[in-house]
Amino acid sequence: MSKNILGSVLSQGRKANEVLIVSTIEKAGTLKKGTIIAHDTLNEVILLQVTNKITWSDLTEQDLFLMNENEKLAYQIIQRSPKSYILHSIIAGAIRDEGNGLTFFGGTTSFIADSTPEVRWLKPSEVKMIYDKGTLDVGRTVDNHKVTLPVNGLIQRHLSIIGMTGSGKSYLLGLLCEELALHKASILIIDPHNEYIPMVQTLPREVDKMLYSIGSAVGLNTYTIDIQKLSAFDFQHFTGMGMGSTAIVEEVIQNLREKKSQYTIQDILQKLDSRAKKGSPSEKAAATWARNYIKTLKNTGMLGTSEPPIQEMVNANQTTVVAMSGVKERIQQFIVTSILQRVFDARRRDEISPLVLVVEEAHRFAPSAEKVSSSAIMRTLAAEGRKFGICLVVVSQRPNRLDSTVLSQCVTNIVMKIKNPADLESIKMSAENVTDDILNELPHFERGEALIMGESFPISIRYKTRSDRKTKHGGKNINFEDEWQKKTREKNVKKFIFPTEI
Ligand SMILES: Nc1ncnc2c1ncn2[C@@H]1O[C@H](COP(=O)(O)OP(=O)(O)OP(=O)(O)O)[C@@H](O)[C@H]1O
Ligand SMILES: [Mg+2]
Repeated sequence: MSKNILGSVLSQGRKANEVLIVSTIEKAGTLKKGTIIAHDTLNEVILLQVTNKITWSDLTEQDLFLMNENEKLAYQIIQRSPKSYILHSIIAGAIRDEGNGLTFFGGTTSFIADSTPEVRWLKPSEVKMIYDKGTLDVGRTVDNHKVTLPVNGLIQRHLSIIGMTGSGKSYLLGLLCEELALHKASILIIDPHNEYIPMVQTLPREVDKMLYSIGSAVGLNTYTIDIQKLSAFDFQHFTGMGMGSTAIVEEVIQNLREKKSQYTIQDILQKLDSRAKKGSPSEKAAATWARNYIKTLKNTGMLGTSEPPIQEMVNANQTTVVAMSGVKERIQQFIVTSILQRVFDARRRDEISPLVLVVEEAHRFAPSAEKVSSSAIMRTLAAEGRKFGICLVVVSQRPNRLDSTVLSQCVTNIVMKIKNPADLESIKMSAENVTDDILNELPHFERGEALIMGESFPISIRYKTRSDRKTKHGGKNINFEDEWQKKTREKNVKKFIFPTEI
């Protein structure tokens, strides 16, 4: 047992939930910040998370000057033994039996050091209770404990994945999809950068896959917009055509709707063609402009007379990606609105299986600063989707730019490296079961490091995402030097040679 002892509780630290522990280099040499350790009292095991590990030689004059009485006393002890540490820790939770067997509770509990002030490493059963909670194998803690998450605990509530560019959000999400796919999950990914195509293509054979791209891209199913759903205003919104042209398109659509139950883009173009030959010169010009604008939109291949049925897009044991790279943001928002609305309606009628709905770059579809066409359905899904078996997963670099109603409904948060002060502030506001000491570490997180917090996690868990994903990750770091070399080799332009002498 003594091998398991790390040190002794000295006193309370600067804050009410901070505990100072004295230890030695021999016992705590390998201990890392963020590690959870235990202190036994008569009726419970108190869990302490180490926030700092300091030796006498680490201290500066200023540190000593700023200390309170308890800290000064603690450091006086190690002053006499330079091979000692003071461990700063916070009370992270407790394990106790309230009649239903040993259970793990988060948050601060009252703390009175008993007659035995000893602090110890966790026992394997305690490690399991805290970190090894399910069947989704996602990574390891700083102290190398395996972290697994429970499927239901993770996705019964909406989830947000937040972190600055390159922090590893998409890699982590790809890993989660890979793990969820093994559970026959139904996953639909809104992918504005075509990042998830390699992931889906390399999922195991048993998993059904669907890949849509907007308009035509070789090898993918085409996602078309049903033009019956488009109003003249939508055409204006997508193309930026003027008011005069919009009025003519409105007239044309009105006319077609009266005559036909279903019309095509060709019908609209034909009508505009004939309108361009009638009326005043300005009317003729407006009709010509409208025709040109709509023709350009048609050439993208995204206008059709139907959309893929939602039953084809969402299914158990199926991962679906809607790849939207190269499509204007407004059109992306329109498509997302239609997909999300149809998902919501179909789930309400129980026509499709419960699903994980991933919205990458979520601030595009529900920005905080303005209202866009997809804002309303994003809010509806955030507020009501859970009841109908939709787990919304929003991914964003900037929580501050994401609609606060949507973000606040994401009660499980996975936070990765963040430096921006405004974003750190908005995370602090919504963070649960996590102390400032840990949130203050966020700017120093490594790539792939994540903090998961929320109702299902009585203690927030800091871990490093596994690097051995089986599927291929699409979001690459560009190697500038290699790319330049490659493009130079490909370049086939005759060089201009300056004359040497005139
Ligand atoms: N756990 C990990 N192990 C190994 N490589 C990783 C890990 N996490 C991320 N990476 C690599 O880091 C790079 C950036 O990761 P990723 O694409 O996930 O960033 P991101 O947070 O989604 O950035 P952005 O917001 O710009 O989309 C990628 O090349 C990815 O392969
Ligand atoms: Mg990404």
